[in-house]
Amino acid sequence: MKPAVLVTKRVFPEAIELLRRHAEVEYIDSDDGLPPEELLRRSCGKQGIVSQLTDKLTAERLAQFQGVRFIAHVGVGYDNIDVAAATRCGIMVTNTPDVLTDTTADLAFALLLAAARRIVEADHFLRSGQWRRWSIDLLAGHDVHHKTLGIFGMGRIGQAVARRARGFSMRVLYNDTRRAPEAIERELELEFVEKDRLLAESDFVSLHVPLTESTRHLIGAAELAKMKPSAIIVNTSRGPVIDEPALAEALSKGVIAGAGLDVFEEEPKVHPVLLELKNVALAPHIGSASIDTRRKMCMLAAENAVAALEGRRPPNLVNPEVLS
Ligand code: GLV
Repeated sequence: MKPAVLVTKRVFPEAIELLRRHAEVEYIDSDDGLPPEELLRRSCGKQGIVSQLTDKLTAERLAQFQGVRFIAHVGVGYDNIDVAAATRCGIMVTNTPDVLTDTTADLAFALLLAAARRIVEADHFLRSGQWRRWSIDLLAGHDVHHKTLGIFGMGRIGQAVARRARGFSMRVLYNDTRRAPEAIERELELEFVEKDRLLAESDFVSLHVPLTESTRHLIGAAELAKMKPSAIIVNTSRGPVIDEPALAEALSKGVIAGAGLDVFEEEPKVHPVLLELKNVALAPHIGSASIDTRRKMCMLAAENAVAALEGRRPPNLVNPEVLS
């Protein structure tokens, strides 16, 4: 008898085809997400679960899963899963890194450009029939080229953003808990600086850290106050990395000039003030959402699941300690 796997939400069909060659698949072909009791009920008798970021896999819920040996998560960030608890329960957790790096960096840059050059505002202006004549400062925004970009988190996506910044002749500062390898610093002409210097000197600040207890509210009122009044902040990492009410207040009071946001503290809710502000470009958590990349993410999650089903070490295991 084939082992059983639960897929909690809709994925690209190729991933289901692959899984079906190796397992009995209970596929929830819907975008709604399973309520916790339903997830628990359906996990019964499953060897693995293919999860997405709306599945909140807390310590309490993981402890109730019986017989589940792996969670193959579709996404690079896995802050929705209590990995330490999974390890204690003997559950392998995998993610989908690399395949989404460039796509997410593209979106960070798109939001940076959109906020700097007021693209969303310009689109509204034109569509609503307000464009009557050309004028010297009509929708004049901020230059991007030759400005300073400060990056928090110089992992894969941070590096890909820095690579794009070079094409815009930008100076790139960064801060992280660890220095990037020397070869990367040299290749991308990166300057490692303390947090306060990054905030004070950057024209653009882009966030590329994972959400952990130490990065929650990395940017709050105090940090925003240290930024230039002309600065623009971009967040494609996780919403809670920014204190959203503090950001809404800073943007409405002109403490900083603008923002490009793809992620929010309580998705899908967005702070009402952000929805009103013109100097903010907003997107509904679509950082990795190109068709090719989302397909690759689904396939990689399925490949991780197949490896686990076959007793091999999954290629993207995030808690290798579970095997020792
Ligand atoms: C999406 O946010 C991801 O972590 O892949």
